[in-house]
Amino acid sequence: MAKPGTGAAAEPDAGAPAIEVRDLHKSFGTLEVLAGVDFTVARGEVVCVIGPSGSGKSTLLRCVNRLEEPTSGTVLVAGAEVTDPDVDIDKVRRGIGMVFQSFNLFPHLTALQNLTLPQRRVLGRDKAEATRVARERLARVGLTDKESSYPAQLSGGQQQRVAIARALAMDPQLMLFDEPTSALDPELVGDVLAVMRSLADEGMTMLVVTHEMSFAKEVADRVVFMDGGVIVEEGSPAHVIGAPSHARTRSFLSRLLDPAAARIGPSGD
Ligand SMILES: Nc1ncnc2c1ncn2[C@@H]1O[C@H](COP(=O)(O)OP(=O)(O)OP(=O)(O)O)[C@@H](O)[C@H]1O
Ligand SMILES: [Mg+2]
Repeated sequence: MAKPGTGAAAEPDAGAPAIEVRDLHKSFGTLEVLAGVDFTVARGEVVCVIGPSGSGKSTLLRCVNRLEEPTSGTVLVAGAEVTDPDVDIDKVRRGIGMVFQSFNLFPHLTALQNLTLPQRRVLGRDKAEATRVARERLARVGLTDKESSYPAQLSGGQQQRVAIARALAMDPQLMLFDEPTSALDPELVGDVLAVMRSLADEGMTMLVVTHEMSFAKEVADRVVFMDGGVIVEEGSPAHVIGAPSHARTRSFLSRLLDPAAARIGPSGD
């Protein structure tokens, strides 16, 4: 098997961590958004990334499946070097489910069709198999009765659960979530978090950018706090959220707990 870092297009390695990021840098023009990030996500681990707006959380997530080209550094997914120019990036991406704040469902397709289309196009599944998998995944997110609904006929929370089911239909080894509940009305957040919690309980490897501290506290194996393009601290939720070591983490958490203070804060977020 090709060793990571040799420049060869590495095959997924069953023993390798789910994600390994080494000295990752990303600049947009003169703006350095990631200033040397190192971290590892083990298989089956749930890691929540928290931090202020603009700290580089989404950019980090997008570098994992190379939706963003890193300026330098190495990203390995299941041992395959994503940052290798010769890697089969489509193959790597097939193993990674991604759920964004905006659901990006096809408006002209039903919930069921939103799940079957990528399976047929990308995985080459036949209609019967794609439909079987789609129904199973819709059941898993509690939307069996909505398979014939179009996105406009679903609530935001239901649409997000369809988006999660769509990602799950591709049998990913790893799920990336970028603030999956932040566009939702408060009363719809719980159902989406419940689905994510059940995925975590089933052993799915998850990297989750979130502002939901109670979710991070209960579900994360590890919490990573980012600020200014670096990881300021990481550790158990009890440590990072419950008893943070760094002043920057404490200040972020107190602004999060006191939205009024955040609104009048200098950064305006
Ligand atoms: N394509 C781009 N071109 C130029 N600048 C960008 C681009 N994408 C992101 N940035 C900048 O990079 C910085 C980090 O953005 P990023 O989206 O990673 O932050 P974030 O931590 O996810 O913030 P939020 O909590 O608001 O989602 C921001 O200053 C942003 O304006
Ligand atoms: Mg973001």
